[in-house]
Amino acid sequence: MASFNGLVIGVPREIMPGERRVAATPDTVREYVSAGARVLVERGAGAGAYYGDEEYRQAGAEVISDVREVFGRSTLILKVKEPKHNKELGGHEAELIPEKAFLVCFLHPANPLNHDMVRTLAARGITSFSLDSIPRVSRAQHMDALTSMSTVAGYKAVINAAHHLGRFVPMIPTDAGIIEPARVLVVGTGVAGLQAIATAKRLGGRVKALDIRPEANEQARSLGAALVPFELPEGAGVGEGGYAQRLSEEWYQRERECLAPVVAESDIVILTALVPRERAPILVDKAMVERMKKGSVIVDISIDQGGNCEVTRPGEEYAWNDVLVVGLINIPAYLAVDSTRMFAHNLYEYVCHIAVNGKIDGNAPDELVREACVTRDGAVVHKGTLKAMGLTDA
Ligand code: NAI
Repeated sequence: MASFNGLVIGVPREIMPGERRVAATPDTVREYVSAGARVLVERGAGAGAYYGDEEYRQAGAEVISDVREVFGRSTLILKVKEPKHNKELGGHEAELIPEKAFLVCFLHPANPLNHDMVRTLAARGITSFSLDSIPRVSRAQHMDALTSMSTVAGYKAVINAAHHLGRFVPMIPTDAGIIEPARVLVVGTGVAGLQAIATAKRLGGRVKALDIRPEANEQARSLGAALVPFELPEGAGVGEGGYAQRLSEEWYQRERECLAPVVAESDIVILTALVPRERAPILVDKAMVERMKKGSVIVDISIDQGGNCEVTRPGEEYAWNDVLVVGLINIPAYLAVDSTRMFAHNLYEYVCHIAVNGKIDGNAPDELVREACVTRDGAVVHKGTLKAMGLTDA
């Protein structure tokens, strides 16, 4: 049974444009409070996911209008997205967090746009943890917000594509004859890709898929996708810990050649291929998009890592030669109710893990704590971030 005695947990409203999620639901607030924490929720923090202030109050939280007070009185800040500049206040959230306090959220600390923010956290003695760096081991499954959010992204990518497509996805018998089902291609069948396959199958699409890990291909096949033939030398696609590994440019070229005819015949192409800590590989180039049927839709959800399609633009939906190319970012915010519910639950489980008797130690001898810890004792300690900052080769 968790004990949060002495912790004052602050839940500010998210300020990133379009972000509708919130880091705690009334249910998780109730859990924190019953384990001894005080919880401060900014007024309106849950509105984007339809949780009202009164529900938070009934769960035991104190609802506060002044965001400075929420930050200023808290010892542990829970957020969805990394601290950002708050235009309304004319200040940065990283500077509102009290010195020596704790922070847990998706920090995306290796992203160069976040390096100044990470330095500020370190300089203020804040111990911060990034949910995207929790190792994906089985004992961390219930804290794995990355997996929950990828599930949302895979589902929503297909729904978004179906919404834009000028045709039915399922086979429809009509007076004018049978309308054939839409052809859907899913590239990368990790968490998001498998959910995309399942969703496209439920809609009645004819689904093909490709991954470079045999295990992922097997899972795609078991969901009813036909595999795109692409023969890699044994073990070439799988690296450390069973994750995908980077291929040589020659193999990426061969992969594009195998994908090209399938891309050309597809109505919907969902792109999710990613090698951990790498830029997403380009698997659909300009020429392949130009050969697609007019009115087809590409949804490239790997855009946060640069995109799998050569012409995807971050945050944009636009037509390239009459093919709609969707590069939406932050897709989970478009399914705010369920993504909040999953996120808040994952976060609660992680807080239970790191807070032992109300005390958090970023240096605890536990990989789930240490690998996710980004700043502690006045320094940046996260391997990927140090490398991205050019402070180490590790
Ligand atoms: P994952 O790591 O579970 O899956 C990625 C898959 O790509 C793996 O199965 C891997 O084997 C495969 N892959 C790597 N190289 C490949 C290649 N050359 N050809 C075919 N497959 C290849 O990752 P997950 O959780 O499914 O996320 C997928 C992408 O979706 C990531 O880029 C992630 O950042 C993004 N995402 C985007 C969101 C958004 O809001 N835009 C939200 C959540 C996830």
